Formats: sequence, structure tokens, C-alpha cells
Amino acid sequence: METKELISQALSARENAYAPYSGFSVGAALQGTDGRMFLGCNVENASYSMTICAERNAVLQAIAAGQRSFRSIAIVGGKTAEEARETPCVPCGACLQVFAEFCDGDFPILLTDGVHLLRDFLPQAFTL
Ligand code: THU
Repeated sequence: METKELISQALSARENAYAPYSGFSVGAALQGTDGRMFLGCNVENASYSMTICAERNAVLQAIAAGQRSFRSIAIVGGKTAEEARETPCVPCGACLQVFAEFCDGDFPILLTDGVHLLRDFLPQAFTL
């Protein structure tokens, strides 16, 4: 699937974000190596630290569906749809560490400014 199409799926997923506290809505579209697509949005909570990021939501959906290998992920985020289309939303460190559990350093992370690799954002993941 093309980068543009993946970004468009992430923008659709963002529409479902539950972000009443920050007002910052994030969407992610994760493509499995079998072609299946897993969408995620951020889900906030009155107990703030219970919030789940969009990217981890997508990864957890995939794992629960039995998919553990991935082609790429598209991520968008912003307070408005316009901001989400125009300003790149770099995934947080916690989400990068979760990607590293299942993906190599050359895993492509598609943002609105282009394609990045997991190793660009997380050169040294924690390992046991
Ligand atoms: N958020 C994500 O969904 N992904 C990230 O990588 C960083 C932050 C969410 C969490 C929270 O709901 C909102 O963005 C503001 O931090």
C-alpha cells in the first residue's frame, strides 16, 4: 500500500481518538506483512497515566489478532485535522520501544514529512 493511502487511513483512525483532556488526537495505521491493516487512536482517561497512545493501540490490536510481523506504520496527530495533515507527529519513546519488540531497525515509520526508520528515532532500544 502506498504511503499516501496509509497516511489517509491514519487520518481516518484519528477521527475516533478520545482525547478530551489534551485535545490532541492521534491516529495510526499499521500494516501487517500479510497485508492486514490495524488501526489505532489515542484513548485518554481521567486518571491521566492510563492513557494509551494510538500507535500502541494499533500494535496491541494486531497482536490480539495474531499478527506479529509488520511492513510499516503511518502516524498522524494534531489538535486539528489540518495540523494532523501538515505537522509531523513523532511517536513517543514508549511506543518506539514497543515497535522494537516486534520490528527491526529498518521498520518504516511514515509521517506527514516522509518516511523515517525505527533506528532513526530509537538508535538503541532496550533489550534483556
Ligand atoms: N500520544 C499518542 O497517541 N502517541 C504518541 O506517540 C504521543 C502522544 C497521545 C497521548 C495523549 O492522548 C496525547 O497524545 C497528548 O500527549
